[in-house]
Amino acid sequence: MSERILVAVAWPYANGSLHLGHIAGAYLPADVFARYHRLKGNEVLMVSGSDQHGTPITVRADQEGRPPKEIADRYHQDFLRSWQQLGISFDLFTTTDTPNHHAVAQDIFLKLREKGHIYQDTTQLLYCPTCTRFLPDRYVEGTCPFCSFQGTRGDQCDKCGKPLNPVELIDPYCRICSSVPEVRESEHFFLRLSAFNDQLLEWVRRQSHWRQNVLNFTIAFLNEGLKDRAITRDIEWGIPVPVPGFESKRIYVWFEAVIGYLSASMEWAQRSGNAEKWRDFWQRDCKSYYFIGKDNIPFHAIFWPAQLLGARGLYADDPQQHLILPYDVPANEFMNMEGQKISGSRKWYVPMLEALQRYDPDPLRYYLTAVMPETRDSDWSWQGFVERNNSELVSNWGNLVNRVLNMIQRYFQGVAPEPGPLTPTDSALLAAINAGFDAVGGYYDGCKFRAAAQELLRLSTLVNQYLEETSPWKTAKSDRTATGRALHTALQAINALKVMWAPILPFTSQALHEMLGETGTLFGAQKVKTYQESTRSHVALTYAGETAVGAWTRVEIPTGRQLPKPKPLFKQLDESIVETELSRLTRSEVGRQ
Ligand code: MF3
Ligand code: ZN
Repeated sequence: MSERILVAVAWPYANGSLHLGHIAGAYLPADVFARYHRLKGNEVLMVSGSDQHGTPITVRADQEGRPPKEIADRYHQDFLRSWQQLGISFDLFTTTDTPNHHAVAQDIFLKLREKGHIYQDTTQLLYCPTCTRFLPDRYVEGTCPFCSFQGTRGDQCDKCGKPLNPVELIDPYCRICSSVPEVRESEHFFLRLSAFNDQLLEWVRRQSHWRQNVLNFTIAFLNEGLKDRAITRDIEWGIPVPVPGFESKRIYVWFEAVIGYLSASMEWAQRSGNAEKWRDFWQRDCKSYYFIGKDNIPFHAIFWPAQLLGARGLYADDPQQHLILPYDVPANEFMNMEGQKISGSRKWYVPMLEALQRYDPDPLRYYLTAVMPETRDSDWSWQGFVERNNSELVSNWGNLVNRVLNMIQRYFQGVAPEPGPLTPTDSALLAAINAGFDAVGGYYDGCKFRAAAQELLRLSTLVNQYLEETSPWKTAKSDRTATGRALHTALQAINALKVMWAPILPFTSQALHEMLGETGTLFGAQKVKTYQESTRSHVALTYAGETAVGAWTRVEIPTGRQLPKPKPLFKQLDESIVETELSRLTRSEVGRQ
């Protein structure tokens, strides 16, 4: 039976380019997962967009002396290019600055307020007397009250991961002029998180399938007791608070960005011609997976579920109808670069679009999968990239494909050979490969992408060993039947492995698909549509993906089929790139907050 899967991916702040760390953290795992489920014939909706509001954008805009919208649109375009070149197959990648998103965010705000989950209160905020303004979130820095880390921003501590309020900072200073701010009063709205503590704890305790690190963090956080949080800000850039008297304030960026998962699903439904279709993913049977980095855990595993619980009855006739809570939050840890923490200020990172200018997408996807920080922090090294490209993609999987297809050209003029009756060795190999659909599939299902890649390499090695044993090149003259049988068997094996590799290696798997004489695309008729709305510069990316349903299975390449001339799937990389890339690392020009 086909399942419904919502693949919800963290919305990147549109204040800088994406680097390899972001991709390993959320976007690639989400894409691999979505592609796997599409091949399984499941109904997948993968959405995200650029996070265009809040102080991350305005701080950057202030630095450049440009309007926030210009900054946000610039990086939105940059994200769209990254997705297309790297093959991150969103069904919709929109932005938080659409009229649709504004409306849905305000609907949720008002629903929560109507139910008493949002209340108004006077609060103490930091105010900079020199800049004559309040200092929300990233406009202020100081020492973290929880872990004493210095240089903690007013919204969240990078060291211990705790979200905070600027007034809680020890020794705060204005990030613009370094003055010591004073405490002033201001009227704001608060989300009554404290009221959801027990319900959330009870819910989270039941999520035994979550990653241990995510579960532990979330339970510990709830055990400390939730405090109500201000969800409006004294700032001009953002979504207006839909309450008279609050014209000069905006909804807090984190309160509305997470709502993007829902609003983007609605936008997708509208664009695909069935405006009600989003309900399948939010009100009926659906498993929703949130792919995020570990610094986003509180927002997705606690605050967003509270918002969803509180908004019960919204967009429904039944007041008890609720919106589906996350099924899983497979948050990744961080990926370091050459043994050091990735850092924007020290320019210690590799911009995704630059890497894509120099390397093909599949080798990048492969190595990023191999070192994905699934359970602990991991490390990208250029040495590792070169080595694993050469020994695993080129010598193991790529070479296997080359050998088989070239021998079929050489000995059978490119015609898929007759096998005759299979021997137990042939059948044993095919059985081992077939078992991969469950084994590799199980890893993809469980978001264990590193393990999936490992298992695929093991299977590919098995086929290489089988070729050594049967040595079809030795029997080519003496025993044509034996040669045909071995090449037939190996051909079926690589055809199956092609499907299993496809979520990680979509480009080369598609190329192989064609080299095996198949027509159509592995992932269905995928078209990239960009929408330009004339009144606003909103550009969304959407794949009109008609997925080959039920492709997650072994299909026979028919005997007698004429196969086209093969081309190598991967390129050997030269050792010298390690040094070149290392010297680039610190010279990188583009800054990121
Ligand atoms: N913009 C945030 C970040 O880059 C992530 C937002 S995820 C969302 O850390 F769900 F809130 F959109
Ligand atoms: Zn100041």
